[in-house]
Amino acid sequence: MSSHTRSRFTIAQRMRGVNPFRVMTVLERARALEAQGRSIVHLEVGEPDFVTAAPILEAGRAALAQGHTSYTPAAGLPQLRERIAAYYSSDYDVDIAPQRIFVTPGASGALSLLAQLLLNPGDGVLMSDPGYPCNRNYVRLAGAEAQLVPVGAETRYQITRELLECHRTARTRGVWVASPGNPTGTVLELAGLRDLCAWTDSHDLHLLVDEIYHGLDYTDGLPTVLQVSDDALVVNSFSKYFGMTGWRLGWFVVPEPLVEASNILAQNLFIAASTVAQFAALRAFDNDTREILEERRAAFAQRRDFLIGVLRELGFSIPVSTDGAFYIYAGIERFSDDSEYFCHSLLENFGVAVTPGTDFGEFENRRHVRFAFTTSMAQLQVAAERLREAVNSGRLQ
Ligand SMILES: Cc1ncc(COP(=O)(O)O)c(C=O)c1O
Repeated sequence: MSSHTRSRFTIAQRMRGVNPFRVMTVLERARALEAQGRSIVHLEVGEPDFVTAAPILEAGRAALAQGHTSYTPAAGLPQLRERIAAYYSSDYDVDIAPQRIFVTPGASGALSLLAQLLLNPGDGVLMSDPGYPCNRNYVRLAGAEAQLVPVGAETRYQITRELLECHRTARTRGVWVASPGNPTGTVLELAGLRDLCAWTDSHDLHLLVDEIYHGLDYTDGLPTVLQVSDDALVVNSFSKYFGMTGWRLGWFVVPEPLVEASNILAQNLFIAASTVAQFAALRAFDNDTREILEERRAAFAQRRDFLIGVLRELGFSIPVSTDGAFYIYAGIERFSDDSEYFCHSLLENFGVAVTPGTDFGEFENRRHVRFAFTTSMAQLQVAAERLREAVNSGRLQ
């Protein structure tokens, strides 16, 4: 390669420190092994294993048949924004003006837009470690700093007011949390949300709550932060509970003063979310679809109970049970002090794909792995046998 070519393709400095999303690397390797004929149980993938519910599929097909193939307004189809507002009213008893709701290409589109909207170079954002890895990168790509707050089982892996107080600096501009969280599956109840709102209010900081796993909770129903504050920002998506990962559709809710700027940024960043996906999603909230989604939620709950039982029996430490999402964050200290090697060996030697803690932050990341119960009970039974063999083999360290 000539020196000209090399400088032509110099990668921007802002890419420094943007790490690969390791779960995708695990998935690629697992698929490569499968292509060689190996049997792999997938406990790494963070997406439901169910095909999108039939009424949504049908609505997508109908939208195409009717020729709905042009752009929608940047903020989303008006009727979908109204439908999302109606969902907040029916499921959470909270009134949100549809104008405050923006439909995006996945929660990913929402998070990257909000980072650009809210952060200046040099700003800091407090977020939990472990936490969803891409958030650190959205913040970094906006020139800001992810201020990682180590969280452990004693706070159910959630950020508390006391922790925020300890980690806040003069640069801090906001707090980003997720409930239920990835990779830990723990939730923020009303009291926790109130606390965070009170703290961010008192320091004049923004609060962003990622509620992407709402609906997939194994509690008596989760509160949205919008019940507590009109000033909080919410990110959500059709990916997880609504089972539409590949359609790439999400949304965010902003306070009124951010509406105009959000619209301008949406116009510029992606023009609009996928039109066919938006028409399909109009059916996501209907009763017949919700019945299907609730059956799936029950299936996830059954898998969670089974896998937590197996893992605890095998000696994994799970001090805090999963309340939501489809993840179990498990300590591997009985078997290894290197989660990457542990995951590598488990995949290569025993055909079980899981994600190392190093994907989710720095805090105790070598001592933890994430199991995703996004596969059938039959596959989980196979995983249980292979895991038993693996931990008894002594080949995980
Ligand atoms: C916490 C969290 N937020 C956001 C996303 C992005 O989801 P999507 O862009 O598919 O809506 C994910 C995906 O796994 C996630 O776990």
